[in-house]
Amino acid sequence: MERTTEKQLGKEEFLNFFRKIPKAEIHLHLEAVISRDTVRRFIRRRNPEFDDERAEQEIGRIFTYSDLNGFIKAYLAVQDLYDSPADFNDVFRDLRDYLVRNGIKYAEIFAAPSAFIKKGWDFSEIVSVYMKNVIKIETETGIKVRILIDVSRTFGFENAEKNLQLLLANMTPVIIGIGLGGSETNGPARLFGSVFEKARSRGLVTVAHAGEDVGPESVWDTINILRAARIGHGISSAGDEKLIDELVRRNIPLEVCPTSNVFTRKFVSTMKEHPIRKFFDRGITVTLNSDDPLFFGVELLDEYWNAYAEIGFSLAELRKIAENSFRASFIGDDEKAKFIDAVGKAWDGNPATAR
Ligand code: HPA
Ligand code: ZN
Repeated sequence: MERTTEKQLGKEEFLNFFRKIPKAEIHLHLEAVISRDTVRRFIRRRNPEFDDERAEQEIGRIFTYSDLNGFIKAYLAVQDLYDSPADFNDVFRDLRDYLVRNGIKYAEIFAAPSAFIKKGWDFSEIVSVYMKNVIKIETETGIKVRILIDVSRTFGFENAEKNLQLLLANMTPVIIGIGLGGSETNGPARLFGSVFEKARSRGLVTVAHAGEDVGPESVWDTINILRAARIGHGISSAGDEKLIDELVRRNIPLEVCPTSNVFTRKFVSTMKEHPIRKFFDRGITVTLNSDDPLFFGVELLDEYWNAYAEIGFSLAELRKIAENSFRASFIGDDEKAKFIDAVGKAWDGNPATAR
C-alpha cells in the first residue's frame, strides 16, 4: 500500500491498534525482560544499606555502555544479582506482564544459563523453574512461551558444548532449541559448528545471532557452518548483495531488533537508516523484535511504532511483518495458519484500518 494514500496514525492510536493485533516475538532475552523494579529489589537485597535512590544510582552505573561488548558486561552484572533459581519466578512475572502489555500471543525467548552454571547452580533446578513458569503463563493468560537456550559464544567452545550437554540431559517440551548470543567479536560462529550439528541431531532447532557486531562473513558462516534456521539481527548483510540473495533463496528469516542496533552502534547509527527497509523490499522474511527491553528501553510495540513513524513502513507492510513473526517461528503449520488468520480478523475488526 502506498504510504501517501494512507492517513497517518498518531502514536497513541497506532499503539492501541497494534496492541490488538496478535503478534509473536521471536528474539527476546529472558534476563533482559526483567523490570527495573525487580533489578532494584535485587540490588537492595544484595546491599541492605542502600535506599531506593542509592539503588537507582547503582542501576545507572550498571546500565552505562556504548557498544555490544559493554552491553554484555552489563548483562552479566544483572545476572550476577540473582541469588537462586527461585529468582526466575520474579523474572517470568515481568515477562508475563510484558507479553500481555504488548499483545504478544506467542514468544520464543532466549535463556542464557552460563552465568548461573558458573555460580554452581543445578541446571535441572533452573529448567524446572523455567518449565513451571512457562506453564503458569499459559494457564493464566493463554500466551504460549517456548525457550531457546543461549549456549553463548562469550565463554568459548567448551562452555557452549557443556551447556548443550546439560540441556540434552534435561530435555523438556518447553525448551525447543539453542541459540548463540554473546560477544560476536570474541566468539566467531565457525567455532560452534559441532555444537549446532549435535543439537539438531537430537531434535533441537538452532538459531544464532550474527552480523550484529561483525561483518557479513559472520552471517555467511552462520548459514553455511552453523546452518542456523534464523539469524538474529543480520544487519551487516545489508552490505553484501549476494548474501541478501542467499537469505531470500534459502528463506532464512531475520530477527530484526532496530533499537538494539542503534544502541550498539556498529552498523546502524540512526533509526531512519536501518536496513530493515532494504531487507523487506528485497524479499527477506523480516520480523520485528525488542531483544533486550530493559537494557535498550524499548518494547515490541515501540519497535512497530519506530518502523512506522521513523522507517516509513505502511500499515499493510507492518501487517505482513506481524504475520511474518508467526511464519518465522517454530510452531507447526496449522498453528501458524490459525495465528495468521487471527491477525486478519483483528485487522478487519479494527477501526484504524477502516479508512
Ligand atoms: N546480543 C548478543 N548477545 C546477547 C544479547 C544481544 O542483544 N542479549 C543478550 N545476550
Ligand atoms: Zn539478542
